Amino acid sequence: MFDTMTMTKATGAICGSLLVYLFAAWGAESLYHVGHDSHGGEGEEIAQAYSIDTGAEESAGEAVEEGPDFATVLASADPAAGEKVFAKCKSCHKLDGADATGPHLNGVVGRAKAASAGFAYSDVLVGMAADVWSEDNLNAFLENPKGYAPGTKMSFAGLPKVEDRANLIAYLATVQ
Ligand code: HEC
Repeated sequence: MFDTMTMTKATGAICGSLLVYLFAAWGAESLYHVGHDSHGGEGEEIAQAYSIDTGAEESAGEAVEEGPDFATVLASADPAAGEKVFAKCKSCHKLDGADATGPHLNGVVGRAKAASAGFAYSDVLVGMAADVWSEDNLNAFLENPKGYAPGTKMSFAGLPKVEDRANLIAYLATVQ
């Protein structure tokens, strides 16, 4: 026969393990529920914590915008290197004041858009005539001519490298 002390110990042990079991079950269940987002707010918190933990999106975003911006590159641009880039424009643009396939580009930095009298500009450029070819505008146009001026007559794919655009614009600024 068990004495009272043994009975008490046994009951205590059973209660103890029951309690552990209950806690384990409760813990597992709350994890399960959070995972399935049944507690709205908690679920969102977990989701957010997860994306912060991985940091994958953040670093991907930084990678896309990596590198110095146009203004920074322009500040140390090299006009001599830009003259070489201008080889890509020469087939259509002259720098002697005469229009060719494209309008002449003398003094184009700071010049009004579509301002070469006598050149038959496209409607989209004529529509921009109140605006000026600032360095920023040239940068955007030369990166993607058709994106900046949809319908432009300039058949040029664009200069993807920011250094090329900055050097070229620095060079054009020297050509009056
Ligand atoms: C295949 C010919 C061609 C090439 C190559 C070309 N362009 Fe053009 N460009 C044109 C034409 C045509 C226009 C007139 C666009 C219009 O009216 O829509 C033009 C317009 C421009 C204008 C606007 C001028 C103004 O008076 O408003 C700028 C600036 C310009 N080009 C710069 C360049 C630069 C810099 C390059 C070289 C990276 C280049 N283009 C390459 C044909 C060309």
